[in-house]
Amino acid sequence: MDAELERILPSDDEYPPSIHKAMRYSVFAGGKRLRPTLCLEAGRLFAGDEKALLRVGSALELIHTYSLIHDDLPALDNDDLRRGKPTSHVVFGEATAILAGDALLTLAFETIAGAGNGTPDQTVRVIHELAHAIGTIRGMVGGQVADMETTDTTGDVARLEYIHSAKTGAFMRAALRSGALLSAANKDDLARITTYGDKIGLAFQIADDLLDVTGTEAEVGKTIGKDQQQHKATYPALHGVEASKRIAAQLADEACEALAHYGERAEILQGIALYIVGRRQ
Ligand code: FPP
Ligand code: MG
Repeated sequence: MDAELERILPSDDEYPPSIHKAMRYSVFAGGKRLRPTLCLEAGRLFAGDEKALLRVGSALELIHTYSLIHDDLPALDNDDLRRGKPTSHVVFGEATAILAGDALLTLAFETIAGAGNGTPDQTVRVIHELAHAIGTIRGMVGGQVADMETTDTTGDVARLEYIHSAKTGAFMRAALRSGALLSAANKDDLARITTYGDKIGLAFQIADDLLDVTGTEAEVGKTIGKDQQQHKATYPALHGVEASKRIAAQLADEACEALAHYGERAEILQGIALYIVGRRQ
């Protein structure tokens, strides 16, 4: 995945170098590459073309990186640490960080629309799927706005579910569905992958909320305790730590169950579901 990202990203000395340095800095800051892996493994489950899955998967990491750069900006979460390193705006200044996010998002769609990523029909479906998942209607931007505007930890459960599923879940589900759409998955396969994606998307964000309470800065690579400080609506704030752990574990089990139909072939995706709730970073 990293080799593919290396091929996609313009080199440091490409003019104008400041933006390309900033793009590369955040992409190669040590992310887990979870969304690309989800895309790749969902596609592999239905014999998708490895090259196309790698390329589209890498594009997902560009989108993900854009979202982190913008999330950390002073106007949003105002964080100076991410993946254990100073955030983009700290290193390159706010204007360049904003533009690096914009450029990564744009490059992602240029990459997906490029030749060799499935049939034209598949490519258009993937672009539509992803663009919707990171947009305002139950997508990443919508979730981020709801998150930003919710400053009361006692906020209702329905709103919390909306924030988590829109801000984090929608993109993960789309990562999985994109892999499936680029392969020979049928309607039933897509439905199973979607259920799995819904479950792990929520489980992932609950685990993220928990890490903000129970993790250390060295493990997580970002500032800890910020949710409470900013009165964010989170699972631990609303349900408590123990109940949140139980709900996350239950969701991971349900995610595994959704793929039971595939037997051993689904082992990697099932392993990822369990990893997501046990992760310390
Ligand atoms: C950590 O992923 C990321 C999340 C928990 C997602 C949070 C959602 C946003 C930041 C949305 C922001 C949206 C906009 C529009 C600015 P990870 O643990 O996989 O990170 P890694 O790649 O560093 O491993
Ligand atoms: Mg945030």
